[in-house]
Amino acid sequence: MDTVKTAPAIELSPEDVGTNTSNNPHLSDLLGTPVSRRQALLGGLSGGVALIGGMSLAGCTDSDDAPPLALGFSAVAKSTADVLTVPAGYTARPLISWGQPLVAGQALPARIHDLTSDQQKNAIGDHHDGMDYFGLGAGNTIPGIPDHNSSSRGLLVMNHEATTEDFVHPEGPSFNNLDASGNLTNASARTVTEECLKEMALHGVSITELAKDGAGQLQVVQNSLYNRRLTVMTEMQLSGPITAKPELTRTRFSAEAGKTNRARGTLNNCAFGRTPWGTYLTCEENWAGYFSHAGTPTAEQSRYGIGLHGFQQLRWYSAPDTADQQLSRFQLNPTGASSSEDFRNEANTFGYIVEVDPYDPNSTPKKRTALGRMSHEGCWPSVRAGRQMAFYMGDDNRNDYFYKFVTDAVYTGGEQRVNDILDSGTLYVAKFDGNGGGQWLPLTVASLNDAAKFPTQADICVNTRLAADAVGATKMDRPEWAAVNPLNGEVYLTLTNNSNRRPAGTATTGSQLLTDAANPRAYEDARGASTSRGNVNGHTIRLRESGDDPAATTFNWDIYLFGAQADADPANINISKLSNENDHSSPDGLWFDPRGVLWIQTDDGAYTDITNCMMLAAIPGHVGDGAAATITNTANGVSGNQVTAVGKAATPDTVRRFLVGPKGCEITGVTMTPDGRAMFVNVQHPGESGGFDSYDQSTHTFTAQSSFNVLPGDNRARSVTMLVTRDDGGIIGL
Ligand code: FEO
Ligand code: CA
Ligand code: CA
Ligand code: CA
Repeated sequence: MDTVKTAPAIELSPEDVGTNTSNNPHLSDLLGTPVSRRQALLGGLSGGVALIGGMSLAGCTDSDDAPPLALGFSAVAKSTADVLTVPAGYTARPLISWGQPLVAGQALPARIHDLTSDQQKNAIGDHHDGMDYFGLGAGNTIPGIPDHNSSSRGLLVMNHEATTEDFVHPEGPSFNNLDASGNLTNASARTVTEECLKEMALHGVSITELAKDGAGQLQVVQNSLYNRRLTVMTEMQLSGPITAKPELTRTRFSAEAGKTNRARGTLNNCAFGRTPWGTYLTCEENWAGYFSHAGTPTAEQSRYGIGLHGFQQLRWYSAPDTADQQLSRFQLNPTGASSSEDFRNEANTFGYIVEVDPYDPNSTPKKRTALGRMSHEGCWPSVRAGRQMAFYMGDDNRNDYFYKFVTDAVYTGGEQRVNDILDSGTLYVAKFDGNGGGQWLPLTVASLNDAAKFPTQADICVNTRLAADAVGATKMDRPEWAAVNPLNGEVYLTLTNNSNRRPAGTATTGSQLLTDAANPRAYEDARGASTSRGNVNGHTIRLRESGDDPAATTFNWDIYLFGAQADADPANINISKLSNENDHSSPDGLWFDPRGVLWIQTDDGAYTDITNCMMLAAIPGHVGDGAAATITNTANGVSGNQVTAVGKAATPDTVRRFLVGPKGCEITGVTMTPDGRAMFVNVQHPGESGGFDSYDQSTHTFTAQSSFNVLPGDNRARSVTMLVTRDDGGIIGL
């Protein structure tokens, strides 16, 4: 751990509740609020799920009986060092890294990157992303018994978004090499089937049992019967409105007997959600980039970014195929007489929210098509007793939209873990008005009223982006994760950046957009000899539903936080008045812990000359705690004004940097054990694009042991889950 540095020592403040090392069973104790009161608000607890699942307590203002939150650590400095840095008094150790075996007795090759595709199916995947912890009771029954207060035994469920081919293949990928810029080229067809199958096994989801060892340290239980991998090959169930029209997803596979509405695999699993009934939601993001369509793609395919070879450049379909067409299914041009003979519809089986029951290793994941098809980021719920439930979802694409799904079912707190609640409800898309108000526009057959394009709800579920285009939703600056404040029900959404936004008055070309109130910045940012334009550093917006009802069709909003470098123009760029303790760029991952602390993670390329990606902790106010503002945007010599609603400016007391990652990584995915004493943080692709200090790109070798590797004898940088604890055993963050 010599490369894990800590910031200078801090003096703990008296109100630092984290110095309490008593054996508090649950974070809810910290809130100072009797459980009975919250129980009343929620209409009863569902085995504790409501408290630890980040559920909304909409309408609840706890200021009368909850102690004020105060951050209790010293800010970590910006850094471009090739290490992970946490505050003084904290330690981070690697817990789960790519390649770690999940089954008993799986032998490890001498070099972890020599894992075969079959071995990889039983080992931790690559590119760790969204994740959550599910407490597990005693015993080894199937399904397991949830214990939502257990911090000593649990299941860590984690997304594996993508792969770094340069690291996971023994001598780098055989199919092509990196170009001069360090990017994969698209020069040739794949020839090695085994490499493709290994990459497919590196994607998906892992479920890993953790248990405390004799020293009280959480460790991976390698032989747990709950350990599981979902990959691009795992069979899944299509569920919801799409099942009424199976021809939309019919393929050579689903045309087989008994396979109607079945699909193979989950892909590019990015952010996550956790249902009020205790299941995990994994969100399929850039799935479109794995498909190829030669010639002119359909309008529907184009709207999702499907084209020749696919922007992920992996070209699995071009390698010699398996007997069950695992590879050729990613090529969408018709090759047979009908959809029952080819894979022209295969892409219609991806792009969904997938519900996974972590406690039942035999369960079939369900693709919840009612929540629409897009580049799904998170799927975060908001509940209030006796009201319909809402699930908030970003579509991460430049100029795409923010959605919510409202269930037909009302929340009781007594929902069973296995149900089909997510199959019935109404999908909405957000329209942000210029006056700080907004509307949720329904995406239904009746509201669209276009029998040619959207004859059934199944068509809307498959072509959700086109439906949202038709109703005039607001084009956003790349919606990433959404989160719901457990203290007041307000909904936060990161908008990571947008290189296509321009000042009012600009003569736009292509997909360039002028600023609007909800996406109000377009400026220039110099880095070395190059200049970036648009909303370079991103922002975080928040909204409050009318009447604090998750099912409301109107809301109020303001901009909580603008990303910026601390020395940027405070009137028009660094509008949130960020300082060295909290300046950041490209907010992406977002999670409210059960106490109401907001954790913000970055996936940045704009400010990385000054600092690697990071995670900040924040104690937010509320919609309307700031004021209206007029921003003067300037880019390409054009200046234009934009009026917007801005939240209260940040201070180091309200937003503070907690962690900085190593070079080349994205910090993405964070959760805690129920006692708040162990935090899990994912470091995705450290050293990507050859940035790792000890990596020799020309020989694909590492010259020094990576500190992000829990396996011995291997120097490779790898995606890893870091376990962060306080050295005094206290509560994290406060
Ligand atoms: Fe996979 Fe948009 O982050
Ligand atoms: Ca991300
Ligand atoms: Ca991102
Ligand atoms: Ca990423």
